[in-house]
Amino acid sequence: MSTTNKVALITGGSRGLGRNMAVAIAKKGIDVLITYNTNSKAAEEVVSEIKSIGRNAAALQLDTSRINSFDAFVKEFTGWLQVNTANSKLDFLINNAGTALYSPIKDVKEEQVDHIFDIHYKAVVFLTQKLLPLMNDGGGVINISSGLTRITNPGSAVYASVKTAVETFTRYLAKETGDRKIRANVVAPGAIETDFGNGRVRDNPDINKHIAEITALGRVGLPDDIGGVVAFLCTEDAYWINGQRIEVSGGQAL
Ligand SMILES: NC(=O)c1ccc[n+]([C@@H]2O[C@H](COP(=O)([O-])OP(=O)(O)OC[C@H]3O[C@@H](n4cnc5c(N)ncnc54)[C@H](OP(=O)(O)O)[C@@H]3O)[C@@H](O)[C@H]2O)c1
Repeated sequence: MSTTNKVALITGGSRGLGRNMAVAIAKKGIDVLITYNTNSKAAEEVVSEIKSIGRNAAALQLDTSRINSFDAFVKEFTGWLQVNTANSKLDFLINNAGTALYSPIKDVKEEQVDHIFDIHYKAVVFLTQKLLPLMNDGGGVINISSGLTRITNPGSAVYASVKTAVETFTRYLAKETGDRKIRANVVAPGAIETDFGNGRVRDNPDINKHIAEITALGRVGLPDDIGGVVAFLCTEDAYWINGQRIEVSGGQAL
């Protein structure tokens, strides 16, 4: 099914925020390829949901902590683009996949730092590097950061500082891809009720209540609060937003 529709690739699209983004982007008329790490069943549910609203979709496996698997992934993805698009290119890359790390600085282990650095930073750098040649000029890269780069939360030092590195990387990316009219932006969600960190924001009543209390809009975030913002960045209306960090937190810890 070769079409001239735009195409978005979302890492970690099987659950949580990535899933919400995938559906919201599809509702903008864009075809969507999601990746998952282990949860193929959840990924297939997302694919079915997107197809039910009339857009093309597929799911591919990718462990973003394994940078040495990226060439094989890009080859597989290229094969999908060749079959499903008119010019074998994609338009939007959303680097979203990730896992949590909660550890005070005094306890954190080198392997934990390496793991978070691989998933949240190296994966963003090298997936972007490898996919830029496959992107249409005029497309966009959206990197998912966190409200924790602006506010401090003891136990999140490593996770948050790696996300800060992604924010800086994104500004440089915007500068380097401007000649191709490819925009690069960061979306930084506040605390959102997903499975992230064993669902602590959603399932721990004390944490949930605390976050609601320090949020101007008076509640914890939900996946629906995020997907539409990322989808907006994939529209023509957002063509002049570039090199920005957009926090989406309902006004958390203002
Ligand atoms: N939830 C929050 O409060 C919050 C706040 C700010 C920022 N964020 C950021 O938002 C992003 C998404 O978080 P979320 O809340 O949606 O988390 P989530 O509900 O736990 O979903 C994580 C997603 O990432 C995938 N994933 C996990 N480890 C992976 C790996 N090694 N390789 C490839 N994919 C992997 C999962 O795939 P499987 O389904 O196959 O496991 C799943 O699709 C993350 O970058 C996170 O840092 C979250």
